[in-house]
Amino acid sequence: MTTNEVRAKFLKYMESKGHVIIPSSSLVPENDATTLFTGSGMQPMVPYLLGQPHPLGKRIADSQKCFRSQDIEDIGDNRHTTFFEMLGNWSFGDYFKDEEITMIWEFLIEELKLNPKNFYVTCFKGNDSLGIPRDDYSANVWKELFKNKEIDALIGDNPEEEGMKEDERIFFYGEKKNWWSRSGVPVNMPEGEPGGPDSEMFYDFDSDLKKNLHANSKWSKDFCHPNCDCGRFLEIGNNVFMQYKKVGGVFVELPQKNVDHGSGLERYVCAINNDEDIFNIDVFDEAKNHIEKVSRKKYGENENVTYAYRVILDHIRAATFLIGDGIFPGNKDQMYFVRRLIRRSVRFAHNLGVSVNFTKEVATGFIDVYKNEYKNLEEKREIILTELEKEEKKFRATLEKGIKSYKMFSPDFVVSGEVAFMLVSTYGFPIELLEEIAKEDGKHVDKIKYEYLMKNHKELSRTASAGKFKGGLGGDGEIEIKYHTATHLLHQALKNILGDTVQQKGSNITPERLRFDFAYGEKMTDEQKKQVEDLVNQKIKEGLPVTREEISYDEAVSRGATGLFTDKYGDKVSVYIIGNGKNKSDTGVFSIEMCGGPHVNNTSELGTFKIVKEEAVSAGVRRIKAILS
Ligand code: SER
Repeated sequence: MTTNEVRAKFLKYMESKGHVIIPSSSLVPENDATTLFTGSGMQPMVPYLLGQPHPLGKRIADSQKCFRSQDIEDIGDNRHTTFFEMLGNWSFGDYFKDEEITMIWEFLIEELKLNPKNFYVTCFKGNDSLGIPRDDYSANVWKELFKNKEIDALIGDNPEEEGMKEDERIFFYGEKKNWWSRSGVPVNMPEGEPGGPDSEMFYDFDSDLKKNLHANSKWSKDFCHPNCDCGRFLEIGNNVFMQYKKVGGVFVELPQKNVDHGSGLERYVCAINNDEDIFNIDVFDEAKNHIEKVSRKKYGENENVTYAYRVILDHIRAATFLIGDGIFPGNKDQMYFVRRLIRRSVRFAHNLGVSVNFTKEVATGFIDVYKNEYKNLEEKREIILTELEKEEKKFRATLEKGIKSYKMFSPDFVVSGEVAFMLVSTYGFPIELLEEIAKEDGKHVDKIKYEYLMKNHKELSRTASAGKFKGGLGGDGEIEIKYHTATHLLHQALKNILGDTVQQKGSNITPERLRFDFAYGEKMTDEQKKQVEDLVNQKIKEGLPVTREEISYDEAVSRGATGLFTDKYGDKVSVYIIGNGKNKSDTGVFSIEMCGGPHVNNTSELGTFKIVKEEAVSAGVRRIKAILS
């Protein structure tokens, strides 16, 4: 079965079970500034999981394009890709655990004809302090299903410590593995975010070879367990029982019990082929042929070659889809990721000895495979190919010059801050690429010095835009900075007046006005608008200081900072505090929000705030336009 056939089979099956099939949403979330990309099938479903009725009913299914930007540097193993398709089905307060697990099992076994003996499943162990019980219910459903296939599936209570014992198939794990929300474990979930326990399905690529992989691990004399990363087991799907929402730091039941099931389409195909290497599935065939032609090296020939192939295959496929969704290579936000994908591909092709342009042909291989399902790829074929090649050519020149200079100026173990600065500022050589190359050579870049030089340089040339603000700040002129701070005041004022469930959905600033989208079910009354306006103006009058701090993500969360970002942060985040104090709960603090800035130093700089419009942008999302005068 080809990937296209498996996708079609899933959708047809879900249709036969009463689901309405909807097309994939764009890779760029609409009206949602909280995240740069659609990273899971459920992302466009959040309002419906929270209780808003879906116009097409309570049973929905699709194959959703996903892109996980945080995985870029992890590509190279046999199972991860930045772009993938997630096969999903949802019950919005309709069926629950029993029906979901039974339905998906029937699909895997009866429709895809996978062998039940290759399946292992996991369930949530529960957490007393959160008041969330152990999911024995799901475990029992699984037990029955295995029993119907004459498999006596035993339960493993403590796989992480004890490994997997004979005949164990159903395993209990804690919240790191069997809890799902867009922001991960419960403590990281912001207010209002839905989440719940999940039950995951693993496929066993059992072969003797795998056992050798354990030679140095504590499982060397035994079997591992489904969540071990050795490559024997592959998670192919996840049933999330979206039942809770975080409110006031604790978990409360959502108005309805939902199911959010997502499976990796490509991983299904791996299981069908009984080949755990995702890069061996059919969608990569044509692209691979082309890489082989220009590199004269074969996939699988040796580890380095395989690694480089995987990076190129993954990155060009992702870039093809992203450009198809309207994101061109560039320097800002989403565009920067497209640029990085293409540049990394060019560099890894360079490692394979490819010296001609290749991205166009590789992308053609992908467009041809996907064009029937994703018509936009065919429609935008020319644009996609042109954009790829333009970026490729530009970067090839940079790469060659940069690598030459790097070699010439870095004879020692350390690549000095000065050399790094020169490469970046003169050649536009990306710093992260320099770090990667240096690492491969066993060298280390003096980042501290580099950053110091870069900062001075930026201040001198007045180009500093103080980091990238994901929320839509167009420029960094003085008036826009004022609007940016006013946006934080507005966000908090809305929370105070309308309640804490108000959540930012988007923000856009021009020198003329600010625009702010937020999740809220009703039209605001005139009275509420006036209260919000008055509160913002009061805070401006109070002349509150606006200060920036860099702290860990966890600390930001525990101090009560607003901000919902599903892209993983590095260790540190930047927060802006309006008022006097450290925590949201301090009386002197009006707002604390994770944000890259920039902002004014004191709210007294803002003038007078006025709401000029309040309207609906889509169901459950309101938009405010406001001005400062
Ligand atoms: N939300 C779950 C996931 O992304 C299932 O769709 O894994």
